[in-house]
Amino acid sequence: MKNITIGLFGFGCVGQGLYETINSSNNFNGEIKKICIKHPEKHRKLPAHLFTTNASEILQDEDIDIIVELIDDAKAAKEIVFSALQNGKSVVTANKKMIAENLQELVALQEETGKAVLYEGAVCGSIPVIRTLEEYFGHEPLNEIKGIFNGSTNYILTQLFEKQLDYDQALADAQQLGFAEADPSLDVKGYDAKYKLSILLTHAFGLFVKPEHIFNQGIDAISNGDLDFARQNDLEIKLMASAYRFKDKVFGFVLPQFIKKDHSLINVKNEFNAVSLIGEFCDEQRFIGKGAGSLPTGAAVLSDVSALSYDYRYEYKKQDRKSQISFSNDALLEVYVSFDQPHRIELDAFDNISERYFSFDQSYVIGEISLKALIKKDWINKGGINLVLTSKSPRICLGKLSIEGLKSELEELQKGKELLSRIAI
Ligand SMILES: NC(=O)c1ccc[n+]([C@@H]2O[C@H](COP(=O)([O-])OP(=O)(O)OC[C@H]3O[C@@H](n4cnc5c(N)ncnc54)[C@H](OP(=O)(O)O)[C@@H]3O)[C@@H](O)[C@H]2O)c1
Repeated sequence: MKNITIGLFGFGCVGQGLYETINSSNNFNGEIKKICIKHPEKHRKLPAHLFTTNASEILQDEDIDIIVELIDDAKAAKEIVFSALQNGKSVVTANKKMIAENLQELVALQEETGKAVLYEGAVCGSIPVIRTLEEYFGHEPLNEIKGIFNGSTNYILTQLFEKQLDYDQALADAQQLGFAEADPSLDVKGYDAKYKLSILLTHAFGLFVKPEHIFNQGIDAISNGDLDFARQNDLEIKLMASAYRFKDKVFGFVLPQFIKKDHSLINVKNEFNAVSLIGEFCDEQRFIGKGAGSLPTGAAVLSDVSALSYDYRYEYKKQDRKSQISFSNDALLEVYVSFDQPHRIELDAFDNISERYFSFDQSYVIGEISLKALIKKDWINKGGINLVLTSKSPRICLGKLSIEGLKSELEELQKGKELLSRIAI
């Protein structure tokens, strides 16, 4: 292995993890020459001469072979990564948002410059899923790839079911233990998992799908009523990122899903991530590991740096396929939708409804709704509504209730609630 000189951007959780994994490796032949950070006043555990706030000091340094980008700002990360490639340097990055938003351009720039970008640490931390898709599954058609792609939400959901906490308590615990950010919205609203799914769509199916075209719903609207429903039906909830191929169409989305106790991913708990894929020939394969954290992600980054030292690059093999497949949101999903007020639910958005429970406190319907309708409808995000994929989805549901009949039941319920509130006054 040749001697590698690294220019590092970012010395936070993952940057320090990379430093430690390099120090602990007894056969890695390389060193970090300079580290670019944002706040020079911060106390660092390494000598001051190693740090700079001047990006060009690293990007223009001819001794530096590889740029490792580990900052928490997607816009600045894009500038660093693009100018590194243009300056003739290969790059390792873990910035899933930046990659998902710019992957097609990044692939074009790699071709143009002859340099490589590797990003194993960006998707499910320590699980080597991208290289597995690229190398092992480079030619086998895949029918499905799904999993638990976000450790913070999996930690919260595990606490909800193991300790019978409510959502706010579980989130507060996760924040205190460092499993969730002070601003957890990217995780709990499903964006983080969506960025990872967007990247995997490229490596699994050869598709470039910008994150804004993928539907995501998080776990932050889960109510105690939803938890009761799950417990009463012997189910748990996991935030699942899923992509399915039907013939030449691929459907993908991020949604909380009820899963049964015998589901293959039920035992993936706390901060662990899992990827499950189904190949045309190999059937199901499962990968489970730590999806985040300083050392697990640092180790994934080190593995990429090492791979660059022997000129490894992603070949994006699935793009060369002869049959053209495309991404589509033209799918029907069976969902459970709960609501605290009758007027919040739009029954017309459903293709059909198979089950309903209406009460003064919390109500729900279970039915089929198209992904297109979910994307268009803003009533879902107005508050008081929660959406969970059923354990059967994406299979077709069978029962059908009359939507017109349900509408008049809801009108009665609304009148009853109004009457009750007038009596209370
Ligand atoms: N944390 C994880 O477990 C994990 C897992 C997978 C992927 N990732 C990804 O890895 C990346 C880094 O995450 P992290 O958790 O290590 O973040 P972090 O702990 O918040 O650290 C961010 C680092 O970036 C530096 N920085 C911010 N803006 C900069 C700029 N414009 N120029 C130079 N340095 C800048 C900060 O400098 P100062 O030290 O001066 O503030 C800090 O050292 C993110 O893209 C994240 O999504 C993280």
